[in-house]
Amino acid sequence: MTRTPVIAGNWKMHLTRRKASALARAVAAHHAGAVHRRCILFPAFVHLDHVRRNIRGSGVVLGAQNCWGKKEGAFTGEISPYMLRDMGVEVVLLGHSERRHILGETDALLTDKLKVALRAKLEVLLCVGETRSEREEGRTLDVVKRQLRILRFVKDHQIPRVGVAYEPVWAIGTGLTATPAQAQEAHAAIRETVARILGDEAAENLPVLYGGSVKPGNAAELLSQPDVDGALVGGASLSIDQFGPILDAAPIA
Ligand code: 13P
Repeated sequence: MTRTPVIAGNWKMHLTRRKASALARAVAAHHAGAVHRRCILFPAFVHLDHVRRNIRGSGVVLGAQNCWGKKEGAFTGEISPYMLRDMGVEVVLLGHSERRHILGETDALLTDKLKVALRAKLEVLLCVGETRSEREEGRTLDVVKRQLRILRFVKDHQIPRVGVAYEPVWAIGTGLTATPAQAQEAHAAIRETVARILGDEAAENLPVLYGGSVKPGNAAELLSQPDVDGALVGGASLSIDQFGPILDAAPIA
């Protein structure tokens, strides 16, 4: 990945097939021709193929919300990153806070997922972020640094396929947003930590996206921070009326 601004929509467990296809078409039409930003959509697994067909030729990138940590085998109900790649998926989200906190995903599990996803030639967008109580206890940066430690398993040639999304748990779906200063502080700490793990050049080129109640009204200011390279948008990615202006907030270098 590079530091071209990235605007990504995480559709979570929303939309019907028909609505996902229509929204994908609308995003594709809005984004087509833009070269100063990347646009990635993360639909539910069952909608991937429909979205793929509707974004074809637009430059919108197909992403998946999760994958399993093995290439293949007896893992009923799980999806291999190789299957995603075969389907045309280019990016996978790993470690979203809903998966860490609702489904109990651990750093050990995420290590397996990271390794196999990278081996399958996917890009990985690793999500990190503190809970409200961790922030109140002053542990934000410790938590984020711990979550980043799994990046030590990234091999040199895989570094260009890794990005990070900082998503403070208390800001997700709550309408509360990190202030631009809070986001910048966390993003700078993420870049410093990645420099220690993977080297200065890797850190300099690392895309670090912000997520947590990004809306048309706050996107531009968040994206203007020096270490904020993009937005991972949940609720506001579900309508083109909101996602379109967020796409347009991506700065032109
Ligand atoms: P919201 O934009 O709905 O707060 O969700 C953010 C998120 O979790 C994106 O992955």
